Amino acid sequence: MDLAQVGFIGCGAHSTKNLFPALHHARCRLRAVCDLNRDFAERNARLFGAQAVYTDADEMLAKEELDGVFVVGPAELHYQMGLKVLRRGLPLFVEKPPAPDLASARELVEAAREHKTFIMTGFMKRHGLAYAKVREFILEKRFVPATGFFKYLHWPAKNLRSMLMTMSIHPIDLAISFFGEPTEVTSHLHEHPDALSLALTLRFDGGRWAQLMLGGFGPRIQEHAEWTGRFDGKDALLVADNIQHLELHTHGRNGIDRAPKGRATDLHDVSTGFDLQDIQVWRPDYGLQNLTQSSLFSMGYAGEIREFANAIVEKREPNPGTGDVLKAMRVAEAVFAKPIGTTVLEA
Ligand SMILES: NC(=O)c1ccc[n+]([C@@H]2O[C@H](COP(=O)([O-])OP(=O)(O)OC[C@H]3O[C@@H](n4cnc5c(N)ncnc54)[C@H](O)[C@@H]3O)[C@@H](O)[C@H]2O)c1
Repeated sequence: MDLAQVGFIGCGAHSTKNLFPALHHARCRLRAVCDLNRDFAERNARLFGAQAVYTDADEMLAKEELDGVFVVGPAELHYQMGLKVLRRGLPLFVEKPPAPDLASARELVEAAREHKTFIMTGFMKRHGLAYAKVREFILEKRFVPATGFFKYLHWPAKNLRSMLMTMSIHPIDLAISFFGEPTEVTSHLHEHPDALSLALTLRFDGGRWAQLMLGGFGPRIQEHAEWTGRFDGKDALLVADNIQHLELHTHGRNGIDRAPKGRATDLHDVSTGFDLQDIQVWRPDYGLQNLTQSSLFSMGYAGEIREFANAIVEKREPNPGTGDVLKAMRVAEAVFAKPIGTTVLEA
């Protein structure tokens, strides 16, 4: 198989803006689109080159010969239609959350295993260029992370469950993608009439931890991440700001005062520390339009769609894999059950 033949259920705002345009960059051909709203389905068939249009997803699955299916709509649709896709033995790409709760997400995972196929959840941040670079350093064993900090500010969610399942689940999964499955979560919820804010501490094997600052005030999205650890054997700090700016600090002397003979008695002997060598920076340069400057790539949407198609063609598990979604949902459910306090997480 050179190109995976795919069908797409759900032609709403997110899929039309961020996922359909990424199909051009992946080893797949869009065979069929489906939406309850025929105008949306016809529009996406026209814009993105699908050969068939449906308003009934069951009919699409029955009539089309597909190698994989995208389901992007409400959580209940993900779960109901996801089960039908998996029971046909087809790989499923599903947006987060893949089901309304952890118990139904487990059913999806069991169906995928029983029918020897896979689920890939739309945790696109894993494929964001800066984050993927940090994970590459970890896989190459150049970087060994010890602690992490993830800030994800966003507009107010309807309630805590909606915040956890639709927004906070992204940085929770991101932290898991660097540190593995957490063993414990401590949560502090601040409830303001206009907004919810959460501070989470996730603990991992070996005493490593990550702090997450989530939600907050105002209709804006803001994202920032930091990792401490060892890089090429030296103490290091990695900083990913606003998704598209990555800094690596390894000398550790920037901002440290310099005294002439190791120690100064008078302040006038002390000079300021300014060490450019300390910092290596990556960020896209916008002089020319290339894939690297495209937000489809820097934010991870193109990467996740490519990964789904490649996993179908190469007949392998994708990243994130079938069971990965349960790890993030387990944390979200624990915080929902105990929004202030510590919960030990059972695998
Ligand atoms: N990862 C991200 O960055 C990101 C961003 C926004 C939204 N999302 C997720 O994407 C999903 C969709 O969000 P949205 O804002 O695009 O919603 P939306 O309401 O704009 O789109 C959902 C679409 O699904 C269609 N639909 C519903 N039931 C259907 C059915 N039975 N058969 C066929 N089509 C059906 C609706 O008609 C609608 O067009 C949500 O799960 C959301 O959490 C992810």
